Amino acid sequence: MKTLTVTTSLTELLKIQYPIFAAPMFLVSNEDLVVEASEAGGVGFFPSLNFRPIENYEKALKNIKARTKKPIGVNIIVNKSNVRQKEDLHLALDNGVDCFITSLGSPREVIAEAHKIGAKVFCDVTNLEHAQKVQDMGADGVIAVGSGAGGHAGPISPLVLIPWLKERLTIPVIAAGGISHGSQIVAALALGADGVSVGTRFIASREASVTSDYKQAVVNATPEQIVMTSRVSGTPAAVIENDYVKKMGADLPWVIETLKKNPLTKKYVVPLIHLVGMKTLEKSATKASWKTVWSAGQSVGLIHEILSTREIFDKLLQEMAAADSRLEGIWK
Ligand SMILES: Cc1cc2nc3c(=O)[nH]c(=O)nc-3n(C[C@H](O)[C@H](O)[C@H](O)COP(=O)(O)O)c2cc1C
Repeated sequence: MKTLTVTTSLTELLKIQYPIFAAPMFLVSNEDLVVEASEAGGVGFFPSLNFRPIENYEKALKNIKARTKKPIGVNIIVNKSNVRQKEDLHLALDNGVDCFITSLGSPREVIAEAHKIGAKVFCDVTNLEHAQKVQDMGADGVIAVGSGAGGHAGPISPLVLIPWLKERLTIPVIAAGGISHGSQIVAALALGADGVSVGTRFIASREASVTSDYKQAVVNATPEQIVMTSRVSGTPAAVIENDYVKKMGADLPWVIETLKKNPLTKKYVVPLIHLVGMKTLEKSATKASWKTVWSAGQSVGLIHEILSTREIFDKLLQEMAAADSRLEGIWK
């Protein structure tokens, strides 16, 4: 198998070996996963809110920075539900965090503050309108979240989303959603992506801080078992279907939906839906519960074993090399 050197605008921008982000995942990403992903040549990201209270977040930043000199990344949720966003941003900057992923709101402040010290900001987007907005704000790249993704999947097929954004943007486009095999990384690069952000594959990693039942459920699940539900965060999120998820349903009860839309009650109801949903996810990810809601994307279909983060990187790279050789064979 040939050794791969991969050079894209993303590897050059961040001075990394491979254009692969270990995507930030609520409850899943931890110090070990981030360090191992960055040491493997990609960039490990984690959501700041995985560490609560905030003192634990500061400790985690210091520990990670002491364990790797490679770039690492923090995800900041930039909507109103995250009351810690300013402090999280400044603690990250004070501790030398190299990159950020913003999600669910306006990244303006993160971009302005991060750029003061040369940190890079990538923004989750699911369509062109939002992508153009963040490019105009000065984002260093977009994470193009397509259909099939874990978390809040976008509605557009990655086969269309990546070249569509690539045609119209000047900043790097990082493909996210459905990627857990190296051939898909080659495909994303062929579509014009400058890198990829991989989430679900790393749930079934030895380092992930979730129960072995959750990891095994990711290994066992098929893509058809991934369903969307608004019950956990108020907006559709991908979860593995089981009896509890079926009973819970896909939509919010109409009373809650009405209160969520009402301008007078919205600001109380939205954070409440979030809080209840996050508690359910937390219980499911950390201990056995009959109210199990496990978040994952369609790439579960290509995940067959629990591996270490290093092994996952090695496997992805081998699969990339094999896909590349296959393509060379086609053109001959
Ligand atoms: C369990 C889980 C938790 C996630 N939590 C977050 C989060 O806290 N913040 C965020 O921006 N994205 C979150 N995501 C989305 C990922 O960062 C990434 O965009 C997505 O997983 C890519 O799709 P894939 O899972 O198909 O690889 C989460 C995804 C999963 C599967």
